[in-house]
Amino acid sequence: MNLPRHPISARPLEAVLDGQVATPPPIWLMRQAGRYLPEYRAIRSEVPAFLDLCLDPDRATEVTLQPVRRFGFDAAIVFSDILMTPYALGRSVRFVEREGPRLDPIDDRGVGALAVGDVEARLSPLFETVARVRRLLDPERTLIGFCGAPWTVATYMVAGRGTPDQAPARLLAAREPALLQRLIEHLVEASVISLAGQLRAGANVVQIFDSWAGVLNDADFDRWAIAPTAAIVRRLRAMIPGAQVIGFPKGAGLRLERYARRTGVDAVGIDWTVPLDYARGHLQPVVAVQGNLDPIVLMAGGDTLDRAIDGVMASLSGGRFIFNLGHGILPETPIGHVERLVARVRGER
Ligand code: CP3
Repeated sequence: MNLPRHPISARPLEAVLDGQVATPPPIWLMRQAGRYLPEYRAIRSEVPAFLDLCLDPDRATEVTLQPVRRFGFDAAIVFSDILMTPYALGRSVRFVEREGPRLDPIDDRGVGALAVGDVEARLSPLFETVARVRRLLDPERTLIGFCGAPWTVATYMVAGRGTPDQAPARLLAAREPALLQRLIEHLVEASVISLAGQLRAGANVVQIFDSWAGVLNDADFDRWAIAPTAAIVRRLRAMIPGAQVIGFPKGAGLRLERYARRTGVDAVGIDWTVPLDYARGHLQPVVAVQGNLDPIVLMAGGDTLDRAIDGVMASLSGGRFIFNLGHGILPETPIGHVERLVARVRGER
């Protein structure tokens, strides 16, 4: 008997990752839990440090479910952060209000001291959140787990903070590739532990966020974006056969097709700069596509928003497609625009 790779799923997002076309397409938004929601800000204000929210299964469960309750999205994404990986490896991670993340910049000794053996235990609050959300979420909605891709996480670990051009990590790639390689290998291992733990706790799908893949030159893109992601996908599926993975190499542009073929992901997330005819002609034949409404256009609303939604739908909804933004929702986005988006994608407006 020829069994499908996954049990036929009633959940549209997983059906699309399995190769089916869903009409209307499933919809969720990157960063759908966050500061644009008053109910998120209320819970956020109860904890002084952002990381403590990620490590608190009660509150993290609640903020994960908030956007699904409000908008009826087809998926929840567990509330956490990509910088939980360096935290789990024993690095210090803080978030400074209105400035962003701060880490101790890592050096050769720091890479040698990374504690891969501690990762599973240090991520236990995340796994607990996943288990609780899966119990509370409607069975017909997908729960997405995630991690940052090794390259993107490394850009923060090397610089110790967000940077406009990721120059510190790119300089390390050019000057000391062997050191960066060691760091990336530890991050691959920690990412596999994180994603496998989330899937075992009840996540249905995982996404790998490579938010800074686009700054890599073409040779470095293969080495630091494609190869580590391919290693994660391969090792994850060796542990959890059929694990479904979405890759989001933001800024990859023309390299998206190569990324899709070589990493083995089931879907690629595309940012708003990717031409829709390229996505339809070169990506949808290979994998499912997720994206790519410009978050600024969602913030702006009005006719511009309606036309942009219709354009994405006209190009991509005939193939395997998950509606999303091209990057995370902006904190200034009016809630009414999100309601309008969901209704329009579902043909209700
Ligand atoms: O709803 C969801 O999508 C789940 C939660 C989620 C967060 N961060 C919560 C968060 C997810 C998936 C992320 C991913 C993430 N985190 C990425 C990759 C996606 C992307 O946006 O490129 C990156 C690069 C980070 C690192 C990060 N986290 C930065 C640079 C910052 C500070 C900037 C900012 O937006 O405030 C964060 C903090 C953060 N992560 C917040 C949230 C809701 C805001 C902090 C707060 O509420 O005080």
